[in-house]
Amino acid sequence: MTERASYNISLSGLDGNLVKVGEMVATGERCTFRYLESFLSAPGLFPLDPKNLSTKKKQHVTDKILFGAFEDSLPDSWGRKLMAARYKLSHAEQSPHLLLRLLDEKSIGALRYELLNGPRIETESESINTIGELVEAAIAFEKGELVDDIMLQRLYNSAGSPGGAHPKASVYGNDGELLLVKFPSINDRYDIVGLETSCLELAEMAGIQVPEFSIMEAGAVKLLRLERFDRVGKGCRHMISMQSLLNVSGYYHSSYAQMADVIREISKDPESNLIALYRQMIFNAIIGNTDDHLKNFSMLYDNGYGLTQAYDLLPNVNQNIGHTLSFLNNDISPTRNEAIGSLAQRFVINKKAAENIVDQIITVVSDNWVSVCEGNGVPEGEIAHFGKYIERQVGKLK
Ligand SMILES: Nc1ncnc2c1ncn2[C@@H]1O[C@H](COP(=O)(O)OP(=O)(O)OP(=O)(O)O)[C@@H](O)[C@H]1O
Ligand SMILES: [Mg+2]
Repeated sequence: MTERASYNISLSGLDGNLVKVGEMVATGERCTFRYLESFLSAPGLFPLDPKNLSTKKKQHVTDKILFGAFEDSLPDSWGRKLMAARYKLSHAEQSPHLLLRLLDEKSIGALRYELLNGPRIETESESINTIGELVEAAIAFEKGELVDDIMLQRLYNSAGSPGGAHPKASVYGNDGELLLVKFPSINDRYDIVGLETSCLELAEMAGIQVPEFSIMEAGAVKLLRLERFDRVGKGCRHMISMQSLLNVSGYYHSSYAQMADVIREISKDPESNLIALYRQMIFNAIIGNTDDHLKNFSMLYDNGYGLTQAYDLLPNVNQNIGHTLSFLNNDISPTRNEAIGSLAQRFVINKKAAENIVDQIITVVSDNWVSVCEGNGVPEGEIAHFGKYIERQVGKLK
């Protein structure tokens, strides 16, 4: 039997102050969450998950270990490996409901967890100016060669909370802003940082909203520096992934069309969010971003829920045949007729507008793929390799 854990849950607001939201008890087999009366009667109240944690009901129970909204606060494989190493956790101690106690103020989104009757975790922060030391520690950690406990603690403090599988860290910039910095991994077969930066640049040119980003170097290592869209100055914005909103555990049977339905149901601005998601879907099809799982799409709360800026954009580095997400009901990227026909309809976009979006993305990506990648130092062979894939996709959508 796993240990039970009880938490007070708060939201860190735009002013940086905590507002108590509710109490959660998780046993490892089920999770119960109760909104506090004080939150339910507060003027700015909103549901932590508009689909699964409605404020119309005070108490919610699930048979999952955690409600998705809470699971979203936790890191994925990269951060969890660091957590396990830093705190020498046994397998049982790595259950998600027990890991929440280890989160600090840098974790993704605005939810904060206080373990009842447990010690408070304090972590030091790291600054962008010492990123080179963290990169070295991350490489040593991946190789299984990080022996210095202090360095492991420093790496954990900065890198233990953000999600995703790739090495990364959250550090403070020179103006006190919290950043996300993505590192290369020793397992990368391509220049992932150069390719991801290039995709962000192309996405921006194609009218897709992306966070402020830049490429930087630490020694000979290229890094991608991103501003965090869940932070505003010292304040935080609540964020929830499409995986949680759709209440699914695996990624495999979900689709872009289902995300469009979620947007129609809960977005404060469905029309523009649907166009944004359609645009990103076509962009992903063209560049071959086949790792398009549901945690790579999220909604932010800002006087209503809205889609976040796009993130985690990469060409088909895993050489997958299909996409992780289906489009309407299959995982092979759409033909032009499907894209501007049945898919556009599901996104409530008329045929002419859909054609314009598809054509704009085709032009931007085909005309600029080589020069943008060159600008970010992507090796010639890789530019040509992914360029061929893109050519085929463009042919299909023309
Ligand atoms: N600019 C950002 N601001 C705030 N949160 C972000 C930002 N970019 C990404 N995130 C959050 O961090 C998580 C990890 O980022 P990302 O998906 O880029 O990492 P990854 O390691 O490449 O992921 P994957 O495991 O999908 O390959 C995302 O799922 C999202 O919750
Ligand atoms: Mg990701």
